[in-house]
Amino acid sequence: MTVSRAPAYAKRMAHPLRSAFLCAVVLAAGCAHRAAHAPASTAGDAAAAEHIHHRFEDVEQWAAVFDAPERDAWQKPDEVLAALALRPDARVADIGAGTGYFTLRLSRALPRGRIHGVDVEVTMVRHLEERARTAGLSNVVGVLATADDPRVPEPVDLVLVVDTYHHLQARPDYFRRLRAHLRPGGRVAVIDFRPDAPIGPPPGARVAREQLVRELGEAGYRLTEEHTFLPYQHFLVFTPVEDGSGAGAEER
Ligand SMILES: C[S@@+](CC[C@H](N)C(=O)[O-])C[C@H]1O[C@@H](n2cnc3c(N)ncnc32)[C@H](O)[C@@H]1O
Repeated sequence: MTVSRAPAYAKRMAHPLRSAFLCAVVLAAGCAHRAAHAPASTAGDAAAAEHIHHRFEDVEQWAAVFDAPERDAWQKPDEVLAALALRPDARVADIGAGTGYFTLRLSRALPRGRIHGVDVEVTMVRHLEERARTAGLSNVVGVLATADDPRVPEPVDLVLVVDTYHHLQARPDYFRRLRAHLRPGGRVAVIDFRPDAPIGPPPGARVAREQLVRELGEAGYRLTEEHTFLPYQHFLVFTPVEDGSGAGAEER
C-alpha cells in the first residue's frame, strides 16, 4: 500500500491512536498493514519485498511523517537517548538517518560530540545537513552511504539504526564490516518494529527479536542491553565479541 492510500485506510479506522498509527505505519515505509489482517500469501511476500526496497527520496513527503509531533508519544526519543547513556563527546553514526529525527536530537544532547547522519538518499542527507545548519548545530555531518557501505568517515562510539534494519540487505555481512567503524567499547543499537506490534511494515518485512539477535551474532556481536519501554519496537544494543565469533549472541 502506498503512502497516498494511507489516509483512506485510516478513515475506516475507529482507533484512538489513529494519528500515531498513521505515523508509525507510514514511517515504516509507506505500506500500511495491520498484523492481524495480513495474509500469509504470495501477495504478502510481494508487499514485504516492495516495502524493503522502498525509496525515500521525497523529503517533503517523509518529513511530514518522520517528524510529525505525534510520533514522539510512541518513539519516546528522550527516553531512548537517556537509555543509551552516551558521553557528551561521543561520536555517533545514525544509519538510515532519514530527515534527521534522531540525528538532530543526538546533536543537541551531545554538544561536544559528532553525529554522522548516514543515508542512501542524497536528498535526505542534504536535508538533515540544512536542518542542522539552520539550527546552528555544527556537530552534524551528513554522509551519503551506499546500500552495503555506510561510509562512516571515522570510528564511532555508537551506531544507531532506527526503523532501518529491515531495509538492509545481507545484514550479517553488513554488520560484520561495520565492526571496523567502532571505537573500543563501541556499540550498535537497533530499534525496529516488532512482529506482534499492531502497526508497522508488512509482516513479511519485520524482523523477529530472535532473528535480529542471531544475525548480529553471525556478524560477531552479542546482545548486551535490551530496553522494553517502546510500545511497538525492539530496542536492542549489541557489543562486538572480542574474537569476532559472535557465538551465543544472547548475553548470559
Ligand atoms: C523508515 S526511514 C527511518 C528514518 C529515521 N531513522 C527515523 O527514525 O526517522 C529509513 C531510512 O533508511 C534509509 N536507508 C535505507 N537503506 C539504507 C542503507 N542501506 N544505508 C543507509 N540508509 C538506508 C532510507 O533512505 C530512509 O531514509
